[in-house]
Amino acid sequence: MTNEKRFTPSRRQFLQGVAGAAAATVVIGRAGFPEFSAQAAGETLRALAADKGLLYGCATSKQALSTDQAYANLVGQQCGLLVPENELKWKYVEPQQGQFNFEPGDWLLNFAQSHQMAFRGHVLVWSEQLPAWFSSVTQQNAKDVMTNHITKIVSHYRGKMQSWDVVNEALGYRGNGGPLKDNPFLKLIGPDYIELAFHTAAAADPKPLLVYNETHLEYDIPDDQYRRDNLLKLLKQLVGNKVPIGALGIQSHLRTGNVPFSQQKYSDFLNRVSDMGLKIIISELDVSEKGPESSIPDRDNAVKNMVGSYLDTVLKNKSVIAVVTWGLAAKYTWISSYAPRADGQAVRPLPYDKDLQPTGALQALAAAFQQAPSR
Ligand code: XIL
Repeated sequence: MTNEKRFTPSRRQFLQGVAGAAAATVVIGRAGFPEFSAQAAGETLRALAADKGLLYGCATSKQALSTDQAYANLVGQQCGLLVPENELKWKYVEPQQGQFNFEPGDWLLNFAQSHQMAFRGHVLVWSEQLPAWFSSVTQQNAKDVMTNHITKIVSHYRGKMQSWDVVNEALGYRGNGGPLKDNPFLKLIGPDYIELAFHTAAAADPKPLLVYNETHLEYDIPDDQYRRDNLLKLLKQLVGNKVPIGALGIQSHLRTGNVPFSQQKYSDFLNRVSDMGLKIIISELDVSEKGPESSIPDRDNAVKNMVGSYLDTVLKNKSVIAVVTWGLAAKYTWISSYAPRADGQAVRPLPYDKDLQPTGALQALAAAFQQAPSR
């Protein structure tokens, strides 16, 4: 259980964020999928999640929160957890070797603390968004460079983090090399870089849940199946070797369109993860629209059905402790550039749209939390 306080919205906040969600209920319609009820409309996502012992939150930037008061209010109201979207990535936090910039990360920690939100770290070891100087790292100094990076950052936030993404996206893709992605860490250190990263993080702060975070796992297609199989082997090895891993993060960048999702296969996969004693975090949920829908009600319905059927499956597993969306509103989302719509319309991948109005994703999240069994 949690001691989450209910959010009692002011009239202005109610009109701004929550009443819109109730008004949007007319469009719904997946069979057997309860409507987003008026009762739920009076509660925020963070409260609906907390009622079931779950954390709901989002990733976002200091830039957006510090310049857009309406957006910052919405994040403060709706989210029980905050993730720096880019600020703790290697190229920003250690822009010169050995010189760290914690100012934006600290600003976000302060925002989280002043809104009674948990804080989640992203990301210590990832082969993307590395600084230019990283290209001069050699086999001789790679272990020291990596362990110093981890130790400095984790120590800086010691005692403050709910969880840390220790290693992100280490898996390879089907038909493209081996089970592990051919990245600079594998090249310079070898496959043991993963275990070393976890041991180093645990030594710097015993408190946070240490997470292995991964993408492209969700669908019933051979590419994702290959990666789920390899992931289970990797996790089994880490747990067997007593590596201090506490959770799997599943990014969950979903898409609409003609892509098969098997509730049965996915819940079997999640059960195999939780049977190893690991927690699960849905760590970067959003939706790229790849379907034929073009009107906003049709598009929202497609997004809602995808998120609804995904979260229905996922939240049945009681080892799932948190759901994080990669952004809160389409006003600030990487999907605008990563997966823009072919027809040029503004994307709707998140609970709120570019005008901070509710979307199909909000309805799906609220209903999924309402239906979820308590942890
Ligand atoms: C994305 C950010 O949202 C963008 O702002 C940035 O330009 C690129 O990275 N998987 C991850 C995240 O683990 O860190 C990525 O975030 C999205 C994919």
